[in-house]
Amino acid sequence: MKTRDEEQGCAGCKASSTPKWRQDFPIDWEGDHYVTRREMVKFLTLGSLLLASANWVTVVASKLLHRGSHVERLLGSASDLEKAGSMLFRYPTNDDPCIAVRTPEGNLVAYSQVCTHLSCAVVYDRTENGFFCPCHHGLFNLAGQPIAGPPTRPLPRVQLVQRGDQIFAVGMETL
Ligand code: FES
Repeated sequence: MKTRDEEQGCAGCKASSTPKWRQDFPIDWEGDHYVTRREMVKFLTLGSLLLASANWVTVVASKLLHRGSHVERLLGSASDLEKAGSMLFRYPTNDDPCIAVRTPEGNLVAYSQVCTHLSCAVVYDRTENGFFCPCHHGLFNLAGQPIAGPPTRPLPRVQLVQRGDQIFAVGMETL
């Protein structure tokens, strides 16, 4: 007569004859590489969710950084600008050099001082009536548009507001 263990395949006997490492890693090599359709769908779904989340984080981060560029900052007095002919300042951060000038028509304009060719600093050139880049003789007109030399993109414009004699930077715009 068979014992109960023998009738059920002697699970305990089989476990005891199996090496310890086999009990810790019970997956067969063949089975290890087998991916079910359900697992594949789960992987693709989670991967897609992860990518969508990363996109949202990127969008939110860029919005927050963009918001920082609209901080209002006092640049100086208009009378000082008239005397000097141009005014150098930093906006929106202290790592962003900019330049403001009064055009012959009396308009107050300001741009990033970073040349859009290879990032040298442009300077106001009264004789050329524009912004000159000494590195490769690039030239921008007072609207920030490239008119000579290698630059092809306009200078980013700084939005200004004048209140009384004081000039404020209130935002950046890329033309
Ligand atoms: S860096 Fe300004 S023209 Fe080249």
